[in-house]
Amino acid sequence: MSGILGVGIATLDIVNEVAHTPGEDEEVRALAQRRVRGGNVTNTLVVLARLGHRCTWAGTWAEEPDARVILDDLARHGIDVNPSLGVPGGKVPTSYVTLSRENGARTIVHYRDLPEYPAAAFLELPHRAFQWIHFEGRAVDELGGMLHHLHEHHPALPRSLEVEKPRPGIEALFPLVPLLVFSPVYARHRGFGAPEPFLRAVRETAPEAVLVCTWGEEGAWALLSDGTLLHAPAHPPARVVDTLGAGDTFNAGLIHARLQGLDWLQTLDLANRLAGHKCGLTGFEGVEAALA
Ligand code: FRU
Repeated sequence: MSGILGVGIATLDIVNEVAHTPGEDEEVRALAQRRVRGGNVTNTLVVLARLGHRCTWAGTWAEEPDARVILDDLARHGIDVNPSLGVPGGKVPTSYVTLSRENGARTIVHYRDLPEYPAAAFLELPHRAFQWIHFEGRAVDELGGMLHHLHEHHPALPRSLEVEKPRPGIEALFPLVPLLVFSPVYARHRGFGAPEPFLRAVRETAPEAVLVCTWGEEGAWALLSDGTLLHAPAHPPARVVDTLGAGDTFNAGLIHARLQGLDWLQTLDLANRLAGHKCGLTGFEGVEAALA
């Protein structure tokens, strides 16, 4: 299968399962706890690896004992971490996750004190060796150097950018990527209450890209470069157990489907099926069964 490079973060997720999400100043007891690897791009790569792809991670980790949780899980999935950089001192980015057993909702407090992956390191990688490069939209300055380079030197290389959270200046990167994937959080931040007007507004800053936006239980939308708007309904599981990483799983579905040569409507549908199946599972173990 194809070689996929993911650029973005790996985290330590300390997940506390609770009967319901506590309110402010409430004290509740966790029903279970687990310490697992997380982080958007590495979640996406793990799902892709479970679907049979060869994956490579470019990101940073802190040289401290908790890095083992991250590196061991990536190794277990056969993900090549050679381009990643260990940083002395500091702490791996850590998410304190409260996962509600009532409805699978996840509430995250994220702590981070680690340099981002530098453009200089990315520029050294053998870009031609990959069939797809996926970026997490976070460190805008560093990302700019990476995306400009590919735009100029490898314009035909399939690549995608996840825009999950508002980041100052991220809009300047939109014209550099052929596939942009937006979250409802970002769309709402831009003042939109529905995907279609949001995507049509983004079109002005990214005239040629395929623009995708997820909208929770309402499914996913894509605006193609010829102006066609597509919608595919969500595939919720019988019982929602864990939504942590559902968006990252959706992104893996998009990449997998495009590498299989599916058209855009089939692609949205496959990504929704994969993400929906994941919401019925704890973590990512078994997510590949969605497509079996
Ligand atoms: C889920 C996730 C978690 C991580 C957090 C980082 O999408 O990647 O695994 O802790 O988001 O923002």
